[in-house]
Amino acid sequence: MTRQTRDRLIDQVRSTFAGRKIVVVSNREPVVHERTPGGVRVVHPASGMTTALVPVMQACGGVWVAHGSGSADFDVTDARDGIAWPPERPVFRVRRVRLEPEVEDGYYYGFSNEGIWPLCHLAYTAPLFRHSDWRMYERANAAFAACVLDEIGDEPAVVFIQDYHLALVPRMLRQARADLLIAYFWHIPWPNREVMHVLPWREALLDGLLGSDLIGFHAQHHCHNFLETVDRSVEGVVDYDQQRATRRGHGTFVRPFPISIDGLGYLESARRSSFEHLFPELAAKTAGQTMLLGVDRLDYTKGIPHRLRIVETLLETYPELRGKLTFVQIGAPTRGSIGRYAALAKEISDTVGEVNARFEGPAGWRAVHYLPEHHDREQRAALYRRADACLVTSLHDGMNLVAKEYVAAHAGAPGTLLLSKFTGASHELLEACLVNPYDVEGSAAMLLESLRLPDEVRAEAMRRLWERVRAHDVYDWGRAIFRALNDVWRRREATVFPGN
Ligand code: G6P
Repeated sequence: MTRQTRDRLIDQVRSTFAGRKIVVVSNREPVVHERTPGGVRVVHPASGMTTALVPVMQACGGVWVAHGSGSADFDVTDARDGIAWPPERPVFRVRRVRLEPEVEDGYYYGFSNEGIWPLCHLAYTAPLFRHSDWRMYERANAAFAACVLDEIGDEPAVVFIQDYHLALVPRMLRQARADLLIAYFWHIPWPNREVMHVLPWREALLDGLLGSDLIGFHAQHHCHNFLETVDRSVEGVVDYDQQRATRRGHGTFVRPFPISIDGLGYLESARRSSFEHLFPELAAKTAGQTMLLGVDRLDYTKGIPHRLRIVETLLETYPELRGKLTFVQIGAPTRGSIGRYAALAKEISDTVGEVNARFEGPAGWRAVHYLPEHHDREQRAALYRRADACLVTSLHDGMNLVAKEYVAAHAGAPGTLLLSKFTGASHELLEACLVNPYDVEGSAAMLLESLRLPDEVRAEAMRRLWERVRAHDVYDWGRAIFRALNDVWRRREATVFPGN
């Protein structure tokens, strides 16, 4: 299936965009080079966006323009700040954008992650909007647009921009090069217009996005929310039937494209990896026990404290589980210099300490094993395969690819996916155990019920989930976007009226 879906994506790109350069643009880069005492270390960041885009770029080739955030990033690049990747058998180029520290601070930590991120995730953290951050956001977006234009030169190109960090780039590119084909994918939720109303630079942000030909969201209701926000905020025409907004004579189509993973590729990694080999200590400590697992960036939208309370409730209500069930939480540190994230990291480690102190069991047993470090794909895959249940308790999440990774790693072996109703994934993964993480006791009861089902039933649910993830993988996602972009382009070429 991977081969088929991958080949279909490649065919789609070749047949429709032959002769056009493909340029992907995102804040986070697919690989980061970090200085270490022994030399340079390559890190694959913990980002749902890069997880999804790397296989697409490996299939299509082209240039990936992203912020060079690693301490050794510019030690390994060529004279134009680029590097062919992977070095042993290059398939695409990474062009690194240089941002001065104060620009990164205001643009990335400030406006993107203290402003837009909490604004779009309904997780009860209020957004912060500072004028200085907004100015840095404008500057950073201009730096990204300049690098894209430099990479393209005079060639025709398709530019595919990712996420909430770069909303102003489409308009900047459109103004420089009206002929470009521009697609934008917004990887996080787009809340309703009342919520968006508090954004002081709403008009400018929307105007920037509407330089695109096509904007994708994970879900249909995000498309609708976006069109309504446009309708109420800026001058232009919104056509709800066609799902299109026209501004300054240019039409932008808005469509849902639920993102996914490279399912079979992931399964292969999982089969190659060995839990006992990669985690010998943890394997010894959890041998013979029911192992529950959480895998996240340490972000307040992921509902990690709620999850710890779910585990606590289980052990409190069912004392017979003490000594027999253990919860492993791995967490990749993220956005550490933001106060809200530092507070969350402390809250989680305090709660882990509390829960572990509350319950006693046989010697060596611990209720929670907490590993707050970055783990690579192979390590995650090994953990997923070992885990009897994966707990995804996000308070709000555009998609959540951890849920899909767990399904792929299991490939139909008995398992339980406890999945928050407030993730995009819950709209597709219907056989999961769907819960409201705010209802801690209800979630704990659902989890136990699912763990107690016979293995055949748990395997059947995982098989069905796997069929879905395998059939709709990330290549399929990429192909749907490129096909839609091609349709938009044909329409544009076929009409004398701009915006039709
Ligand atoms: C989310 C965003 C991505 C981002 C990722 C990791 O998935 O949609 O754009 O890359 O979080 O966050 P970070 O801030 O480390 O890139």
